Amino acid sequence: MIKSVIAAEENACAQYKKIIKAVEGEDYVTQDLCIRLLADEEAHLVQFKGFLKEYSS
Ligand SMILES: [Fe+2]
Repeated sequence: MIKSVIAAEENACAQYKKIIKAVEGEDYVTQDLCIRLLADEEAHLVQFKGFLKEYSS
C-alpha cells in the first residue's frame, strides 16, 4: 500500500518535471504553478518514505 503511494508520488513528480521543462521560456505562470505542485508532491514523497521506514522496521 505505502509502496504504491510512493510510486504514484514519484510519477506525479516526474510529470510535473516534464511540464516544467516543456514550458520553459514560454509559459511562466504554468511553470510557477507546476513548481509549487512539485514541491507538494516531493513533500508527500518524503512523508510516505518515512512511513515506509517506520512500518517496515
Ligand atoms: Fe501527492
